[in-house]
Amino acid sequence: MIEILVLNGPNLNLLGTRQPEVYGSTTLEMIEESCIERGRSLGLSVTCQQSNHEGALIDAIHAARGQKAGIVLNAGAYTHSSIALMDAIASVELPTVEVHLSNIHAREPFRHRSYIAPVAIGQICGFGATGYLLAIEALVAHLNVRTA
Ligand code: DQA
Repeated sequence: MIEILVLNGPNLNLLGTRQPEVYGSTTLEMIEESCIERGRSLGLSVTCQQSNHEGALIDAIHAARGQKAGIVLNAGAYTHSSIALMDAIASVELPTVEVHLSNIHAREPFRHRSYIAPVAIGQICGFGATGYLLAIEALVAHLNVRTA
């Protein structure tokens, strides 16, 4: 069965209570459940991980190499700062869809720059929790592996 990784970065464990006016009231657990469910309906296995630590995110990306068909990544604030995460994605050569709950381009200028975007197959932002499901659909379309 095709397997994909949904990987969330710093502070996203606080979704639901963290600035709900920006990020909505859906918890990370709810998002992860809906990703797993969407995967199931598409015939793929979805694994979800979250870390507040840059190195742990890099380790998760490395571990996905050869094991997963692709990655859905919300790197949180590391999006705007982490050359190391960019290099990790480039190194494992796994198709990666960048996701953000908020529309980063409509926010502060420092959020407009993404180090993930140049190594991602595409970016989905501004659609809240639905963005994760759109990202899974996009990844499946890219992989051309719809099995259900
Ligand atoms: C975010 C946007 C980032 O700028 C921010 O640092 C986050 C969340 C989003 O999902 O909208 O932590 O990635």
